[in-house]
Amino acid sequence: MRWIHAAGRCLLVLTVVLSGYMASGASADGTHGTGRGPVTLATAGDLTGYLRPLLQGWNRTHPGEKVTLVELPDSPDETHAQMVTDLRDGDRGRFDVLNIDVAWTSEFAAAGWLAPLDRSRFPLSSFLPPVVGTATYDNKLYAVPYVTNAGLLLYRKDILAKEGLPPPRSWAELEHDAKTIAPKYGLDGYAGQFLPYEGLTVNAAEAVYSAGGTILGNEGERVTVNSRAAREGIGFLARGVREGWIPKAALSYTEQESKQAFQDGHLLFLRNWPYSYVEASAKGSAVAGKVGAVPLPGPAGRGASVLGGSNLAVNTRARHPDSAARLIAYLTGEHAQRLVLTRGALPPVRADLYQDPALIRRFPYLPTLRASVLAALPRPKSPHYGQVSLVVQAVVHDAMTGRTTPSAAVRRLARELAAISRQ
Ligand code: GLC
Repeated sequence: MRWIHAAGRCLLVLTVVLSGYMASGASADGTHGTGRGPVTLATAGDLTGYLRPLLQGWNRTHPGEKVTLVELPDSPDETHAQMVTDLRDGDRGRFDVLNIDVAWTSEFAAAGWLAPLDRSRFPLSSFLPPVVGTATYDNKLYAVPYVTNAGLLLYRKDILAKEGLPPPRSWAELEHDAKTIAPKYGLDGYAGQFLPYEGLTVNAAEAVYSAGGTILGNEGERVTVNSRAAREGIGFLARGVREGWIPKAALSYTEQESKQAFQDGHLLFLRNWPYSYVEASAKGSAVAGKVGAVPLPGPAGRGASVLGGSNLAVNTRARHPDSAARLIAYLTGEHAQRLVLTRGALPPVRADLYQDPALIRRFPYLPTLRASVLAALPRPKSPHYGQVSLVVQAVVHDAMTGRTTPSAAVRRLARELAAISRQ
């Protein structure tokens, strides 16, 4: 009799588990777990001030599916390291929903850490088209675009106006103004994010792409960096430091220090993300009212921006995958996306917000940003993206400090990237 009892209990447990699983809709996502319940959201700690009230809003209306925010370090490289440690952990990780840099989708998906998502649950067709490409790997959707980004060139409107000059439309104009105009006003010429970290990978990729080159092809299988264009791109950055129109201090700038230098009135030109335009233009900034923003220039005209931003993904081992997906739908919905822009000063992924006249009045750079995002190019896709980025940072930094020439740098990049893609 005992075995009948035991079998009956098993059947009961199985029925409860199964009905929970089906009712949750978890199977529709191809994810495992019991569907609905509390979740954690792990994100880099920078620029998240606006997120707390947004999550409190969710928690008020979803008491059974409360989200807990886990703030990781500000630096993308450190956040990457902590997420990888958590995701590799054989035991259940702490992170259910991950706010990942757009550059990491391929790596995390290829490692089997992200649950494939059902496209019909998310408003993908209302997003700016290039951002959707950063959320897919091997033709499957592994994340949902949340915030986008594109590099812009900030310039001192007041100074160029005094000189009767337009904002630079090519590297030649940028170099000329940085070399000859900036010193007349006691300023440094040009800076970007040149410390060896993810920001330098972005700046290096922009320089290479702007000159018409590429770094990797075929989702990381082919190394394409050995080109005249890549030498020209890296050469532009190295020449700036050598000739002094990029200040040496910029070799240790991240977004924050470079923005501060511009905002304190020390720079004529700055490559940075759009939030820096908002902050440099705000009351209290020494250059408020004196800042303009244009698309990045290239050698002979318009250059190329790298697509930045972040995507929301569900950990394969998420405790409650259905709630994780529902939270992602909330954060990528119209209401939350408007707050991403108005409270976070971050570029939303929803296309309609870029054409809203009231928002354009408040954020006059929106049309420039929209054009830059639409033309922006993704960073190299690779299942080993973390290693690819480390190599790019190290080699390009060596070229900028004069430890190696641009030609030798490109040869070394080709060699080291080929070794990574053979893994
Ligand atoms: C910004 C971008 C992100 C990029 C990072 C580099 O946060 O949105 O995509 O990786 O800057 O520092």
